[in-house]
Amino acid sequence: MRVTGTGHASMRIDTAAGSILCDPWVNPAYFASWFPFPDNSQLDWESLGQVDYLYVSHLHRDHFDAAHLKRYVSKQATVLLPEFPTSEMEDELRELGFTKFLKAPNEQVVELDGGLKIMIQALTSPTDGPIGDSSLWVEYDGVRLLNQNDARPTDLSTFAELGHVHAHMLQFSGAIWYPMVYELPQAAKTAFGKQKRDRQFDRTWRYIDDLKASHVFPIAGPPCFLDDELWQFNDIFGDEGNIFPDQSVFLREYAKVGGTNGVVLLPGSVAEITTDGCETTHPVPVEEFFANKVAHLEEMRERKRPIIEAEKASWRHPEVDVLGEMKRRIEPLLDESIYLAKGVGGPVRFDLVDTDASGEETVESIVVDFPGKEVRPYADEKVRYRFRTHRGLIEQLLHSGEVDWVNSLFLSCRFSAARIGQYNEFVYAFFKCLSEERLQYAEGWYDEHERAVDAEDITLGDWVVQRRCPHLKADLGRFGIVEGDQLTCQLHGWRFDLASGRCLTSVGHKIRAHRADEAPAPAPEPAS
Ligand code: FES
Repeated sequence: MRVTGTGHASMRIDTAAGSILCDPWVNPAYFASWFPFPDNSQLDWESLGQVDYLYVSHLHRDHFDAAHLKRYVSKQATVLLPEFPTSEMEDELRELGFTKFLKAPNEQVVELDGGLKIMIQALTSPTDGPIGDSSLWVEYDGVRLLNQNDARPTDLSTFAELGHVHAHMLQFSGAIWYPMVYELPQAAKTAFGKQKRDRQFDRTWRYIDDLKASHVFPIAGPPCFLDDELWQFNDIFGDEGNIFPDQSVFLREYAKVGGTNGVVLLPGSVAEITTDGCETTHPVPVEEFFANKVAHLEEMRERKRPIIEAEKASWRHPEVDVLGEMKRRIEPLLDESIYLAKGVGGPVRFDLVDTDASGEETVESIVVDFPGKEVRPYADEKVRYRFRTHRGLIEQLLHSGEVDWVNSLFLSCRFSAARIGQYNEFVYAFFKCLSEERLQYAEGWYDEHERAVDAEDITLGDWVVQRRCPHLKADLGRFGIVEGDQLTCQLHGWRFDLASGRCLTSVGHKIRAHRADEAPAPAPEPAS
């Protein structure tokens, strides 16, 4: 089996029974904030796009690049489609000209022509990607590969059960706006960033240890930030709180925990994987490439500057009545929302900053009032969250009818945020569900999961706790770490105070726990 690195989470898998192109991403994503790193725009995409199969793991724009798919990927390719709850991915791909689809039943091995086998695991919680993420398992001629990309299943046993995996591709770096955008003192940001960076690596080691593959490929990040406004997010300043470590840092950290089987794929690297080993060739030596990272980024920045400027010029739509349009779009969804609205539990404020030619700023403050179920001007009240961003970005979201503000505004990092209290996942779940179909799905999902009774307990240290994490049901026997009276679930790093059961990371999500030598505590209440 041959794997060609094509940048970020993308790769081309070639076997004698067919080829699969995964997640090709070249054009900037999220308001021209993210670019693939290392640069992959100069690969021979005309050839790379001539494949038998296309796999797009999910609709995040650094995995689903509509313009690139349309221009370069053969429409004769059969799309290997994860079993997602909505038809959005298929609809979008059909619009791009794809007509052949193989809907892979979730977690079932499918035999394609010539003995090529695949299995797709779809994750479908509202917090997975833009309503869904997935991983692809491939087997040919005894060689097995798992392209986990940035999916975070609770464990990898579904894949491990299919036999020893030879190549495991997974995410190790950050892909979020936390903590950089928060209006916090720099020291706090650095401390939170460092915590996050450590947690990302811990989670990666855990997945690697779960599967024990012959070779581990760090993929799906980090992106690079080429706009001058965002340049500081690149991990080139020796900042230990930067959440975007690159593949060379991965190798270094992996070595510290005894990892010796890491393989970095640059765009254009080719790995020949057999049951006995992995031979890799690179367009330039990997160490040399990372030693010259800053020069690479600076050269890329100059080359991509016109693209960024052209995108920026397209955002403003002064004809959009922002308040009126937000009311029209969001109020009907607030009316329908039970779980998400209750979960947010307070007003969320958007400060829209407009800068005139002289540099003077004006700010319009709009509140999405979840308890009051309305969108209205800010009324000098306490809010749960506050987001401050360029007015043009909101105009663009409304103009284009964007239904997912997470997969656009928030991932752009072109905003700052402040909040009272803990992280609130319902805020972000709501703003990725700005359509009837998505909102109904998310409400149904929370309804089902809040009702589900998870009765099994396990003992961790001095505590008896419920086996499944109250967040997304990770097995705490594998992901739970107890230190004193606190439990940390390493899948997403959420912490719980075991004495009270309170989640210290987010609102709701109480855990059931009691000391091993004491009587059980009452059952947890539903999230509020
Ligand atoms: S499953 Fe997300 S923190 Fe446990």
